[in-house]
Amino acid sequence: MLTESEAEQSYLGQFIPLQYHHSMLMDANRMDNFKAAIDHVVFPGAKVLELGGGTGVLSWFAAGKAAKVYCVEMNLEMVTEARKLLAKNPNGDKVHVIHANAFEYLPPEPVDVMICEMIHVAMLREKQVELVESFKRRYLEKFGGPLPIMIPTDSMVTKCDQPWFRSALSSESV
Ligand SMILES: C[S@@+](CC[C@H](N)C(=O)[O-])C[C@H]1O[C@@H](n2cnc3c(N)ncnc32)[C@H](O)[C@@H]1O
Repeated sequence: MLTESEAEQSYLGQFIPLQYHHSMLMDANRMDNFKAAIDHVVFPGAKVLELGGGTGVLSWFAAGKAAKVYCVEMNLEMVTEARKLLAKNPNGDKVHVIHANAFEYLPPEPVDVMICEMIHVAMLREKQVELVESFKRRYLEKFGGPLPIMIPTDSMVTKCDQPWFRSALSSESV
């Protein structure tokens, strides 16, 4: 019998089995759009934090321009895989993979960009909103403002000209 905490952590969207990462990586629409958003907001020399890094691929995209990327992943199997993959790729040394719970982790210094993709199919049992809200509260307590630019939310706002869309999202993300 699982404890309540163990049951919570085994939900899909919390601990995604390795094979699901293959599907995410093979989804060109997903990967191309995340890469475009990251390229759009990460500037040369930026400090970046990713919460829920998985294979580390989004952190690696950021490392193309960033000076340093903190990549937080709670699943030890994924931490090991991410470190192996990053070691084989250029700029991988700029990504620091940290085995930690994103609900508790904060970087040792302020960051310019925060990436978090924990959105689950049909938004079932996903922790995206809860985690981003927790991050914002803890980050402001530790560093004060400003908050980093957040992907996906802020990049959607900057790319979308619809006023209703902009106002609906910007009040939540900034
Ligand atoms: C949807 S996957 C995205 C992985 C990667 N960012 C990508 O885009 O390919 C979400 C990742 O968040 C991790 N995760 C879930 N809950 C977490 C938590 N509380 N702390 C850190 N990582 C977590 C999962 O293990 C999984 O690797």
